[in-house]
Amino acid sequence: MVVEKVGSNSMANISGLRGPLWWMQWAKRGWAIAAVGFAVFVFALSVASYYRSSEPESNTANAFHHITTSDLIDLTLLHSAKDRGALCLDGSLPGYHFQKGFGSGAKNWLLFIEGGGWCNTIESCILRKHMHLGSSKHMGRRVHFTGILSPYPDHNPGFFNWNRVRIQYCDGAFIAGHPDNELKNGTELFFRGRLIWEAIMDELLSFGLSKAEQALLSGCSSGGLAALIHCDEFRHLLPKDGLAKSLNKDCVARMEPDRCIFPEEIVKNIKTPVFLVQSAYDFWQIQNTLIPKASDPHSYWQNCRLNIYNCNSTQVEILLGFRGSLLKALNDFEKNKEGGMFISSCFIHCQTLMTEIWNSPKSLRINNKTIAESVGDWYFNRSAAKLIDCPFPCNPTCYNVNFTRG
Ligand SMILES: *[C@@H]1O[C@H](CO)[C@@H](O)[C@H](O)[C@H]1NC(C)=O
Ligand SMILES: *[C@@H]1O[C@H](CO)[C@@H](O)[C@H](O)[C@H]1NC(C)=O
Ligand SMILES: *[C@@H]1O[C@H](CO)[C@@H](O)[C@H](O)[C@H]1NC(C)=O
Ligand SMILES: *[C@@H]1O[C@H](CO)[C@@H](O)[C@H](O)[C@H]1NC(C)=O
Ligand SMILES: *[C@@H]1O[C@H](CO)[C@@H](O)[C@H](O)[C@H]1NC(C)=O
Repeated sequence: MVVEKVGSNSMANISGLRGPLWWMQWAKRGWAIAAVGFAVFVFALSVASYYRSSEPESNTANAFHHITTSDLIDLTLLHSAKDRGALCLDGSLPGYHFQKGFGSGAKNWLLFIEGGGWCNTIESCILRKHMHLGSSKHMGRRVHFTGILSPYPDHNPGFFNWNRVRIQYCDGAFIAGHPDNELKNGTELFFRGRLIWEAIMDELLSFGLSKAEQALLSGCSSGGLAALIHCDEFRHLLPKDGLAKSLNKDCVARMEPDRCIFPEEIVKNIKTPVFLVQSAYDFWQIQNTLIPKASDPHSYWQNCRLNIYNCNSTQVEILLGFRGSLLKALNDFEKNKEGGMFISSCFIHCQTLMTEIWNSPKSLRINNKTIAESVGDWYFNRSAAKLIDCPFPCNPTCYNVNFTRG
């Protein structure tokens, strides 16, 4: 599997900090991308255990807006997928949730790709077969549409009335896996991400995506990476081949394909305008790539990993260095006239699906702008949208997740 190589390709040199996997940072963050006059992609990340496909968004949304049953969107299984062999890891049908656009948004489309890590060993892929991230048998039948998918204008001013699709991620490899990588020895694991992508696109094209006036492709966490991988072809709707061929051809021509999956490389080659939503203190990255448990046998970092307010001054300095490495890597992107970014300093991960953070009176703001306002400014060409927050703990509007159990 290509993904395995990618995962082990440490990018320690980039930050000089304990070898964080740079591509994971990117894979685990929120972003947005827009294709000129046509597509925007918004990326944000979600970790399986953190944003389950059925419940957690509802909690956030509930706190802010009364949820009605019309907010519950049924899962659609992709029936054409069976004949095309476009199957989840376990061989079940892939699926998505769809809410039709209306009014001025009737011809506009917003696609959001669910995140949830990836699998890079036979064992981890087998485990995944028993989760919603590897099988539609375990997917939430009905989900709430929140944040960037919300149908309420006050929550989601730019996109509330667009056709909105939440694509469920079930191939374990950024919806880019290829059957060539399947094991031929009786281990039942289906690597069909490419086929899933093509089958879903064909179905959405037939529902009206082919006549879209505007479109936005978005994703959270590994869904963000999937959106990056697919964004140029989404824009041109030219699907085909395996992961290496999904990757930008200029990049693949210059270096090993497994390097081309690193978001910093992907971003360089994407022709489609991109908006990145990311926290410089992303808790998933801090917990899994900067200071994974295995690298901290004496648990010196344990309290800090659970709650950023528990970090002592030395640790805060190290996190500041981590932020610095992100900003450095964004240097080139910052010069991109068509790009946008919203780089916060909160202990958070996946910011675009949480209504309270995306756009609410209590929202996170940088220069008094919410993420929704900044993405809107960028997508609708209202104003420049490159916002970088001051370092932790300067922003009082931050929502910092507290993992400490009382
Ligand atoms: C924003 O500007 C670009 C470049 O001028 C243009 O191609 C695009 O259609 C505009 N987008 C919107 C939503 O007006
Ligand atoms: C098939 O090969 C994989 C990878 O080499 C191995 O982990 C797995 O146990 C094998 N399965 C069977 C049924 O032999
Ligand atoms: C912060 O904690 C680390 C790990 O326990 C320790 O090595 C360091 O000396 C502490 N720094 C301060 C300023 O207390
Ligand atoms: C921040 O933005 C809100 C509207 O989004 C506005 O009402 C408020 O006056 C602004 N505050 C500052 C300090 O500009
Ligand atoms: C985090 O949660 C724990 C357990 O509920 C609580 O004791 C602690 O005060 C909280 N910390 C912060 C900074 O809110």
